[in-house]
Amino acid sequence: MQHEFFSAALDGPITYTGRPLSHVHYGRGITKHHFALYVNHLLDTLRDCGINDQDINDIIGRINTYADEITGDTGHTG
Ligand code: HEM
Repeated sequence: MQHEFFSAALDGPITYTGRPLSHVHYGRGITKHHFALYVNHLLDTLRDCGINDQDINDIIGRINTYADEITGDTGHTG
């Protein structure tokens, strides 16, 4: 699902077939702090893979747009 999600979030070609991120992460106590840890691990991984800085900025920018869905700050109603 992560593979699908990342591919879709970065414009494909694979389509994400998983559940909505807000549903899956709702009620799990995931805070902005946890989200930041996740993003930092992603950053390390992208650097380890030799991705250039501009692409890294693009990717992190895309993933940051999902922060509210993951942390439940969108007012999910069930
Ligand atoms: C920050 C800490 C995070 C924690 C602790 C966490 C935890 C989880 C857990 C426990 C599941 C499985 C839910 C289930 O099967 O019922 C899950 C699924 C998933 N998460 Fe996260 N997550 C985190 C961050 C993220 C982020 C930042 C993304 C993407 C931007 C993400 C994308 C996904 C996807 C695509 C799935 C699969 C959904 C599905 O099975 O339909 N997660 N996560």
